[in-house]
Amino acid sequence: MRLQVVKAEAFGARAASQAIETLQRNPHAVLGLPTGHTPIPLYRTLLAKAAAGAVDLSQMRVAMLDDYLGAQHGNEVSFYHWLQEHFLRAAGIGDDRTLAIPTRAETIAADCEAYERRLREWGGCELLFLGLGRNGHIGFNEPGSGKDTRTRAVRLSESSRAANADYWTENAAIPEQGVTMGIGTILEARQIVLLVSGADKREILRRVLEGEPSAEAPASWLQQAPQALALADEAAAGRPAE
Ligand code: F6R
Repeated sequence: MRLQVVKAEAFGARAASQAIETLQRNPHAVLGLPTGHTPIPLYRTLLAKAAAGAVDLSQMRVAMLDDYLGAQHGNEVSFYHWLQEHFLRAAGIGDDRTLAIPTRAETIAADCEAYERRLREWGGCELLFLGLGRNGHIGFNEPGSGKDTRTRAVRLSESSRAANADYWTENAAIPEQGVTMGIGTILEARQIVLLVSGADKREILRRVLEGEPSAEAPASWLQQAPQALALADEAAAGRPAE
C-alpha cells in the first residue's frame, strides 16, 4: 500500500479524482462506498462535479461496505439510509444500481453469500473506498478479523459503537452487531483507497502502515495489497503534503 499525503482542503478533490478517472474509463464501474465522517468531502465533491457536468454518475453502480445487523432500510439508524441521504439520492443512484449489505438477521448467512455472488456477477469492485476506525477496523472488520474473511455478521466493539453514536441523533440505540464486506472480499477490489483524515487517526495510521500485518489492526492487511493507496491529510499523516 502506498501513502499519499494531501492538504486537508484537497482531500475530497483528490479522492473524487480517482472516482472520476475510474468512471471515465468505465461509466458502469462498481464503486464500493463507506459511510461515516471521513468520506463526506468525497461525496460532496463528486456531487458538485456531477452538477457541473464534469462526471457522469448515471450508470455507475454502488456496493455498500457495511451496515448494522437488523437495520431497516427506512430507519434513520442504518448505513443504507445514511448513504441515501449523503450521496445516493442526490446522485440519482436507485436500488437497481445499489448492492445493499444484507441486514436481515434470520437469513443473514445465506444473504451474505448472495451479496458476494451478486458482487461477482457485477464484475467485482473496480474502486473501493474505505475509512479507518480508531481501532484499526475497515468496514466492520473489527480486531481479530483474518485476511480470508468474507462478507458476514460480526459483533461490534464498544469503541466502534461509541464512535458510531455521533452519526445519528442523540440517544440513538446502536445495534450490537454489524454486517461487513470481509477482508478477503475487500482485497479483491481492483483499486482500494483508504481515506484517513484528522489527528485522532495519526497513531492508528502509523500502526497500519508500519506494523506487522495482523488481525489486531485489520487495516494492516492492506499492506499486502499493491493496488491500495492510503490517502491521508497532513494531520493524519503527521507530515506535510507532497
Ligand atoms: C463505515 C465504515 C467504518 C468507518 C470508520 C471510520 O461504513 O466502514 O469502517 O469508515 O469507522 O469512520 P469515520 O470516517 O466516521 O471516522
